[in-house]
Amino acid sequence: MKIFSLIILTLIFIFGKITAQDNLSALLPMPNYINLINGKKDFTVTEKTVIKTNLQDTSYCIKELQRIFQERMEITLHISASTRDKQVIHLILNPKINGSESYSLSISNNSVKIEGATHGAILYGIMTLEQILIGDVSKTKSNKITQIGINDAPRFGYRSLMLDPARHFLPVNDVKIFIDQMVKYKYNTLQLHLTDDQGWRIEIKGHPQLTKNGDFYTQDELKDLVRYAAERNIQIIPELDIPGHTVAFLATYPHLGCSNTDTIPKIPGKTLDLMLCAANDNVYPIYNDIITTVANIFPSPYIHLGGDEAVVAKNWAKCEHCRALTKRLGYNNANQLMGYFFGKIMPTVYEAGKKPMFWCEIENNGKGGYEYLFNYPKDAILFTWRNDLTPSCTELTEINGNRLIMSPSEYAYLDYPQYKNDFPEFNNWGMPITTLETVYSFDPGYGLLPEKQEHIVGINGTLWAEAIPDINRVTYMAFPRALALAEAGWTEMENRGWESFKSRMYPNIMELMKCGVSIRVPYEIVDRENK
Ligand code: ACM
Ligand code: ZN
Repeated sequence: MKIFSLIILTLIFIFGKITAQDNLSALLPMPNYINLINGKKDFTVTEKTVIKTNLQDTSYCIKELQRIFQERMEITLHISASTRDKQVIHLILNPKINGSESYSLSISNNSVKIEGATHGAILYGIMTLEQILIGDVSKTKSNKITQIGINDAPRFGYRSLMLDPARHFLPVNDVKIFIDQMVKYKYNTLQLHLTDDQGWRIEIKGHPQLTKNGDFYTQDELKDLVRYAAERNIQIIPELDIPGHTVAFLATYPHLGCSNTDTIPKIPGKTLDLMLCAANDNVYPIYNDIITTVANIFPSPYIHLGGDEAVVAKNWAKCEHCRALTKRLGYNNANQLMGYFFGKIMPTVYEAGKKPMFWCEIENNGKGGYEYLFNYPKDAILFTWRNDLTPSCTELTEINGNRLIMSPSEYAYLDYPQYKNDFPEFNNWGMPITTLETVYSFDPGYGLLPEKQEHIVGINGTLWAEAIPDINRVTYMAFPRALALAEAGWTEMENRGWESFKSRMYPNIMELMKCGVSIRVPYEIVDRENK
């Protein structure tokens, strides 16, 4: 506790000069429209201040609002229906407001009004209000709030971070801790990479053998997690990575791999590069069963099917059954079996009322010709991720009519080190350094003309966990870079700026530390010269 306070004090000392303390100084992501109101009487919070709302009394928004005022001003806010109250905080659900995440927050001398068309929008108004209190420290200490008007809406509707409990398992409560941080920065999607070579993490009641040797989430735990996230305006996208990244599955069902890999021991965490055999008809009923189960647990409209890094040359191109199938279908290249493989999986996805997502793969990794690795269906959402391939993925998705999520490793792989010689210290394959400033410089539109970026629907930051053993390392790798990425997803380019971001970041990283979240302090960007 003492050491912790010392760290905070040191940070306040180091950052003191650049941390202006006013009602804008902790806003992150920066709202898109702010009407500053100077020199007017503050809103004063007292024991008589009440909440008026058309939300249900049990709404999470109300609980959050009450928590904030309890924690920051030690005032208990009650809900009132009286017309005589003088100091009122209004939470207004107004379906007429355009945009499911747009909110307005207006603070006058006798009212705070947060309005939005959905619970999520109102929650975002409350998160912004909390950041006003965090930034305006001295006013907050005297229970005052400066007048302001904010009308805010996100640049992109899909703002995601991805956790990888397949590589290193994260207990449900740890995922909840992560969700708690995501909502503060207006992330609305958590992608859970549930299966990979190193582990199978989801209970499938029809196939209990899949989880018999490792940590996993029960279906009830996942349903609880989905509810927990939804309260915080976060959808969970499940990812089942196929046909590669499937050693944990093949350890249970070794006969479903390719014939040339029959003699390779399938050891989760040790064996890599194996694939499901496209020519084995027994693969499909099992996976279709699994997909139906997953679809019933997660209400999100999408299931991510991976599709990345399928090492076809070592599997389908060598397997006698896959070779025969390639020939029978009149293909000249085993890669073409990707279309056949997913053609047998996708009907189940659609029957479950879902749409597929894939990591965008380009034929030959983009060398000498730009075609998709296989014909993704038009309603699939693709994620660009490979280094340097984003311009090609962006063009291909535009031409082919797919929607695109920007997850380029150059900017959005938060599992890469943030500074020279920093973590990860193991399983680091020579990852490029991705500094906070690099992440901040990310324009998800890549500077394209507006009509060339209409199909870009959002951003995604990854936390691949080969080298992330637990939640403390997850948050260390994520923060503060996830703050920079949050702003890339929410704030229009003209409202962004590195110097402004840096100063708004400091009170937020101190908040994260006060909440016990392990973060990396970005000492390299502190201007020590001018102290
Ligand atoms: C990936 O990084 N394999 C999508
Ligand atoms: Zn095969």
